[in-house]
Amino acid sequence: MRLVVDKVDVIVVGAGASGLMCAATAGYRGKKVLVLDHANKAGKKILMSGGGRCNFTNMDAAPKHFLSDNPHFCISALRRFSSQDFVDLVDRHGLEYVEKTPGQLFCEHSAKDLLEILMTELEWSGAELKLNTSISNIDYKDDHTIVTTNQGVFTCESLVIATGGLSIPTMGASGFGYDIAKQVGHDVLSTRASLVPITVQPDRKAQLAELSGIACDVSATANGTTFSEPMLFTHRGVSGPAILQITNFWHPGVALDINITPELSLDDLFAVRQGSPKKSFENILSNVLPKRLVELIKAEFPWLNERSAQTSNDQIEALYQYLSHFDIAPNGTEGYRTAEVTLGGINTNEVSSKTFESQKQKGLYFIGEVLDVTGWLGGYNFQWAWASGYCAGQYV
Ligand code: FDA
Repeated sequence: MRLVVDKVDVIVVGAGASGLMCAATAGYRGKKVLVLDHANKAGKKILMSGGGRCNFTNMDAAPKHFLSDNPHFCISALRRFSSQDFVDLVDRHGLEYVEKTPGQLFCEHSAKDLLEILMTELEWSGAELKLNTSISNIDYKDDHTIVTTNQGVFTCESLVIATGGLSIPTMGASGFGYDIAKQVGHDVLSTRASLVPITVQPDRKAQLAELSGIACDVSATANGTTFSEPMLFTHRGVSGPAILQITNFWHPGVALDINITPELSLDDLFAVRQGSPKKSFENILSNVLPKRLVELIKAEFPWLNERSAQTSNDQIEALYQYLSHFDIAPNGTEGYRTAEVTLGGINTNEVSSKTFESQKQKGLYFIGEVLDVTGWLGGYNFQWAWASGYCAGQYV
């Protein structure tokens, strides 16, 4: 029996953010495009992102918001397909969206609306999507690639790997992209879960668990980078924007500094004693911190409810040290189970920043999170997916 082989111009593996963008862009250029995904639904991460409303871009997106061993790699694509370009696209479809925190755009109603736009674009471009498709073999020939799957055998001129990182395996994440890269001799930089809650050491966990559910504004510093945003106590440790952001820079072994009263300097504390001697520090802290957190601090500093006039310089300095270096006793992170992204990945030194083609294998392309490009929290990672997908889609 003769094997039926379907011939297309482009195969995109991964129907996530970058893959859908790339497929539609190539389809509009008249290419015959096939998108393959092993999941039963396209764009699952889009649907679960931003609390179900997808923070789909950041109007301030710039190379400084991305981490990579090769920080120049992302510059060209971010310039060629900006956040405004993506906004123009969703505007054409009439998407309703809101700017929550400055620059961060979220769907007004649901991430489903955004996915629907991407699926419409895919359809209009003529690209075909096959779900529930597992790839068992890839064979590179001189001018084409043969992709064997559980749904048939396909050949293409360009093969695009858009399989993302390792976070949330239950949503279809796999190390497939890294394996494909390694098979043709690419260097894959070590990966780690990021934009992820931090777990705390067992002794401290019991104490902090009492604060579960409360949030406060902190500044979190690691490796010379500081984020001033809210931190949330959970029953496993700490989370919230400040914590998620800092995990792009922190990992066990690196110092993590949390200041729970970033607006209060040591001088401010001394000024309380000077200017309001009858006021207690408990009173002062209650203005800026949740009650339960003040109770925890009081357990450490029993004199907190006394008049500030009665406190010594040493006591005030000890309190300041405690607040400005709040000990969360970080243990590790919740890992890929809950992480938003994967740091590290395919070394971008071996991929063209213009076309996204591999320098090791002609006709093979890598886009999105599978590459060693990771954005901050705030819509930057999707912007990278759109930009890299769009740019590769121009060349495949
Ligand atoms: P993506 O993960 O989107 O897609 C990969 C696709 O490849 C999936 O469809 C998967 O099924 C498929 N695949 C994997 N292995 C395969 C295999 N072996 N065979 C076939 N198919 C395979 N970012 C942001 O900017 N704003 C936000 O609000 C959020 N929020 C957020 C919340 C949560 C909970 C998560 C987990 C992540 C975010 N992110 C985010 C990050 C963002 O979702 C992520 O950076 C992009 O989806 C990456 O796009 P990619 O196209 O690279 O991969």
